[in-house]
Amino acid sequence: MMNTPLRIGICGLGTVGQAVVRLLREEGDTLARRAPRPLEISALGMRAPKPGFDPGTLPVHTDVLAVARDPAVDVVVELMGGTDDAKTLVELALAEGKAVVTANKALLSEHGDALFAAATAKGVPLAFEAAVAGGIPIIKALREGLAGNRIEWLAGIINGTSNFILTEMASAGRAFEDVLKEAQALGYAEADPTFDVEGIDAAHKLSLLASMAFGVPIASAKVFSEGLARVTPEDFRYAEAFGYRIKPLALARRRDAGLELRVHPALVPADALFAQVNGVQNAVMVGGHAVGPTLYVGAGAGGDATASAVVADLMDLARSTLGAMPPLAYRAEAQGSAPALPSAAFQAPAYLRILAEDAPGVLAQVATLISAQGINIEALMQKAQDSVAVDGITYVPIVLLTRTAEEAAIDRAIAALESLPAVRGSVLRLRVESFGA
Ligand SMILES: NC(=O)c1ccc[n+]([C@@H]2O[C@H](COP(=O)([O-])OP(=O)(O)OC[C@H]3O[C@@H](n4cnc5c(N)ncnc54)[C@H](OP(=O)(O)O)[C@@H]3O)[C@@H](O)[C@H]2O)c1
Repeated sequence: MMNTPLRIGICGLGTVGQAVVRLLREEGDTLARRAPRPLEISALGMRAPKPGFDPGTLPVHTDVLAVARDPAVDVVVELMGGTDDAKTLVELALAEGKAVVTANKALLSEHGDALFAAATAKGVPLAFEAAVAGGIPIIKALREGLAGNRIEWLAGIINGTSNFILTEMASAGRAFEDVLKEAQALGYAEADPTFDVEGIDAAHKLSLLASMAFGVPIASAKVFSEGLARVTPEDFRYAEAFGYRIKPLALARRRDAGLELRVHPALVPADALFAQVNGVQNAVMVGGHAVGPTLYVGAGAGGDATASAVVADLMDLARSTLGAMPPLAYRAEAQGSAPALPSAAFQAPAYLRILAEDAPGVLAQVATLISAQGINIEALMQKAQDSVAVDGITYVPIVLLTRTAEEAAIDRAIAALESLPAVRGSVLRLRVESFGA
């Protein structure tokens, strides 16, 4: 005798919603053999017909809230995006005692703690595998595969648009603005690319990962973020000469005083696995105390890849393997309410590019100001062929790598350098990361 189906209401029939419907329709029989209950779409929530999408005989509600109230729905799948209507829908679905699956990192990053509390109070799961790194099962890895570990750090390339832009800049020597326009034309970047190139989207995802990894409330996982716009094609050349590539990195690391949570372009060793993750691909590395570093790579976006993660959550629900726990409860032993550290307390080596007058003694002045902050220089480069003349004065970039230093000291060194008469404009600082070191 067939068990009762898990009845699914899908709200938002855009790129991901349609891909989920397609996957469930095409693979329904196979999925039914893998779970004790078949997955059945019992309602769709869409406010207007979608060109090219045929709902067939599926019941359609034009008001998504009717899906949450529909007694023929066991689980509401929220694939609308945004933080207003989506919040109302998820709150109502939970209040109705229905499980929820969402791909919405912005919603969970902003309102996750309250929504997970509501889910826990009702004893229903709120699943979100698709909200971080698209098709890569990183939430499941943290929740289940790494359950025996204390997580020490995690690092990710978790915004495909940023990775596409930096990959193109590196391989074709093109400027940021130019590649951004191409990313928009290809549909990788939104018309307003701020969320991607300023690191906001990656910060949303990192706050969810940090909550899972360190057992902190999402609201306390305050992420520092810095965008890509100041990186120039020359920086890729200098990085290469030092043995590094430049990647859009999201990083969470446990320190004694709290958590470092940051999103920014970073130099990573050219031979690191991360350095090979190119284009719109995503990757996440997790360092567990028992297992050591682990790496997860794959498609971080796209309808089908994201649908893969949504359906994985639905399969977990059909198998009843998802409890009603908020993400932080998975590591309740962990950091408690440990604060997110201010950027001044971050520790990392730095890459500095300083445009300085090409004159005797300037290099020594630069080195002296950096040493005065207790910072050691690891490597230094100055290439006469990169010199530029401005108002009759010749300037040449001094490019250097420091050893690991507290960011407050680097900040002071940069301020001192920028006040030198021989230094023109602002100093570019990028952070250097070698994962787990
Ligand atoms: N696309 C990806 O690669 C990807 C990857 C990971 C996660 N996600 C997440 O998945 C979610 C969906 O993304 P998407 O790319 O599929 O977006 P999308 O193509 O813009 O689709 C969103 C759909 O939701 C509908 N919608 C929005 N508000 C609604 C409301 N109040 N009532 C009814 N329908 C509503 C829209 O309908 P209208 O056309 O009527 O406005 C649209 O069809 C987002 O949270 C996104 O962050 C996407």
